[in-house]
Amino acid sequence: MLRSVVATRYVTPLREGGSLPGLVEADDDGMYVVKFVGAGQGRRVLVAEILCAGLAAALGLDVPELVLVDVDPVIGRGEPDEEVQDLLLRSVGTNLGMDFLPGALSFDPAVDPVDPGWAARVLWFDAFCLNVDRSWRNPNALWWGGRPWLIDHGAALYFHHDWARSAASVARPLRHAEDHLLLRAAADVTTVDAASAAALDPDVLEAVVGAVGDKWLADEPGFGDVGEVRAAYREWLAGRLAGPRPWVDELAAVQRAAR
Ligand SMILES: Nc1ncnc2c1ncn2[C@@H]1O[C@H](COP(=O)(O)OP(=O)(O)OP(=O)(O)O)[C@@H](O)[C@H]1O
Ligand SMILES: [Mg+2]
Repeated sequence: MLRSVVATRYVTPLREGGSLPGLVEADDDGMYVVKFVGAGQGRRVLVAEILCAGLAAALGLDVPELVLVDVDPVIGRGEPDEEVQDLLLRSVGTNLGMDFLPGALSFDPAVDPVDPGWAARVLWFDAFCLNVDRSWRNPNALWWGGRPWLIDHGAALYFHHDWARSAASVARPLRHAEDHLLLRAAADVTTVDAASAAALDPDVLEAVVGAVGDKWLADEPGFGDVGEVRAAYREWLAGRLAGPRPWVDELAAVQRAAR
């Protein structure tokens, strides 16, 4: 399970974020970028953030630590901005925080050093979890402490917005792969395929899915209990990993066409 902290102060909204994430100070003196459960996108995007951060970490990719952030109504009542106050009051209870990397810059492969092997592993990871949100327009990667960090995985694993049709996406190629931030910088994705797939063994999948608390999995339409929802995530992930992984070959073809 993720570590829990209590919000002590709402500092500022991060206006560029579509879901109005905010910078929040917590009782451990840490600063967190908080994605609020009351934001329009709902709790499934928070589930996607947790699952993808776990998968990325298992692949050796840097992601800022995630924590659960408890928001008390008093935090919202003191907020002068009406839009933010509404969001905070809709989000009383548990929210998702990400360790704030102070002074981080948006990662730019045209300027920052890029290791082609690392880039290939990121490309494989994004294709694996159907993350269409890492493009030139919207890099969702930060440069901090002399290395790149991955953020913002809420749009990934989008099959969970329509469970009845989720099986159809198990072998599906990454959409808009031609726009991926690292398509050209990356080594051939097939060179990292075997090691990446091997890193996500059944124990890892179990642990990654187990990191999502019951609260955000409960009452999912079509499921009897949270155990069934966890099993459905595990099955989708295991199914996508099972050979021969046509989505890797399709991605490699997009890469070759771009060279
Ligand atoms: N851990 C972090 N440390 C420092 N800055 C961060 C961190 N997380 C996010 N940011 C900043 O906040 C912005 C918004 O965060 P994020 O991309 O996660 O939110 P979003 O609402 O999903 O955004 P969008 O819809 O614009 O992609 C990022 O582009 C980045 O500039
Ligand atoms: Mg973003």
